[in-house]
Amino acid sequence: MPLYIVRNDITKMKVDAIVNAANESLLGGGGVDGCIHRAAGPELLEECRTLGGCPTGSAKITKGYRLPAKYVIHTVGPVWHGGGHREKEKLVSCYRSSLELAAAHNCETVAFPLISAGVYRYPKDQAIQVAVDTIGAYLRGHELTVYLVVYDKSSFQIGRERLAGVAAYIDDHYVDVHTDAAAERQRFAALPADPPPCAATAPSRPPQDRSLDEAVEKLDESFSQMLLRKIGEKGMTDAQCYKKANIDRKLFSKIRSDTHYRPSKPTAMAFAVALELPLEEAQELLGKAGFAFSHASKSDIIVEYFIARGNYNIYEINEALFAFDQSLLGG
Ligand code: APR
Repeated sequence: MPLYIVRNDITKMKVDAIVNAANESLLGGGGVDGCIHRAAGPELLEECRTLGGCPTGSAKITKGYRLPAKYVIHTVGPVWHGGGHREKEKLVSCYRSSLELAAAHNCETVAFPLISAGVYRYPKDQAIQVAVDTIGAYLRGHELTVYLVVYDKSSFQIGRERLAGVAAYIDDHYVDVHTDAAAERQRFAALPADPPPCAATAPSRPPQDRSLDEAVEKLDESFSQMLLRKIGEKGMTDAQCYKKANIDRKLFSKIRSDTHYRPSKPTAMAFAVALELPLEEAQELLGKAGFAFSHASKSDIIVEYFIARGNYNIYEINEALFAFDQSLLGG
């Protein structure tokens, strides 16, 4: 199931469980801990008093009381001491034990803050990386919807080198629709006209590469048919594909059962990433849904940046899309 990255106040999230970045006493504090206790009311602290604390890297669960969430999962992140005191291992354990506790209580939706990325001074870009990698790995084998809640934009920083690379690529490729419309029109005018819809035209590559029948057949292929064909060609299972695409099972079932289903552009791009298609084939798959990569769209350029570098990690792509205020892939 998908991982969403959202900007919100976690106490407002209408999910089965929210996770609290607590301290070992479980008796409240500042930051998100303080927000959650204030929103849940005094009964939360009363229940926490019965738990006898919680060691770093572990998690304990209480009711949500006045919160929209049914449960609060309290986990204790590591304090950052430079990285040489098993901080990463403990932080991974926070996410894992919280997810396991949520599953044990039949939660279908869980929201996390960025554990340890505040008072505990874990470097934010590394905190994000651990969160996204650990949650992503867990979701490969479990049906759960997870929200990574970013409270303020400044606390969402991704690796500078990755962000700088993306920013430079956008600068090089972004076509401002207002100033370059004429140039774009000229560029498109120079392209060969699209073949009439059902014309048995020559295949896009020399005939010796593929038979005319096969080319015509692929011309009529719908998005759903091409997607399922590609999944078969890649030797993937449906579940492997939709999880890698950060798409939930229900949406995939709709696409599988309706040959003429028209996905949104982020969904079509998410499957191109999951199938690890090179740009040309990704363009072909998008075309089946009536879309094309456009240099007038920052999100298209960001996805193109990652595909061109052979980086098909959809969570990393979504981190970059989020950082540039673009809609995320999948989900
Ligand atoms: N919703 C979502 N995220 C929030 C909210 C909120 N209402 N308030 C703060 N955050 C974010 C912060 O921006 C930060 O990115 O939560 C992340 C974790 O920061 P902290 O709350 O400071 O938690 P942490 O760094 O793990 O330190 C834990 O701080 O509050 C005390 O009792 C707590 O001693 C413990 C320590």
